[in-house]
Amino acid sequence: MTSPINETTLSPAQSRNASALSDQAFQRFAREVAKYPSEGKQSAVMACLAIVQEELGYVSAESEKDVAAYLEMAPIAVHEVTTFYNMYNQKPLGKYKFNVCTNLPCQLREGSTALAHLEHALGIEMGGTTADGLFTLQQSECLGACADSPVMLVNDVTMCSFMTTEKLDQLVAGLRAAERGAV
Ligand code: FES
Repeated sequence: MTSPINETTLSPAQSRNASALSDQAFQRFAREVAKYPSEGKQSAVMACLAIVQEELGYVSAESEKDVAAYLEMAPIAVHEVTTFYNMYNQKPLGKYKFNVCTNLPCQLREGSTALAHLEHALGIEMGGTTADGLFTLQQSECLGACADSPVMLVNDVTMCSFMTTEKLDQLVAGLRAAERGAV
């Protein structure tokens, strides 16, 4: 029996057009595709987009086409996935992405105060990125943590619950300090 990888994957050279994706990214695509039956390789689309974002920092239109070619999907179908989930960045963003929940339960519990405080502390408006490229502020739909409201998600992974202005100041100061330490 032929292995799923052989049946379902193309070589990087076959898949690549003008992409900036590395060979390692395509090797990781292959590992994701191998988790599914050959007729279901499109199920790896979210994982492949996550790999793209890890490597490039965002999912460009060009890399969507690479993923589509690799998974034998229509590019528009890949684009629909990219635009449906707000964890995928469609343009280069700051190193730290703050997704502030703006749905009603959070707004009823000082969510708008937290958002305004962040805008002031970072010197940007919702949707903006700080000039030093460190922070991007975005709004988010319900993050499924209404009991902890108001909340925001940092880099799609770390939930910041019960946001107070003090907590937000500590978070921003801590990240800035870490960056200074890393230089
Ligand atoms: S409304 Fe904000 S987490 Fe649900």
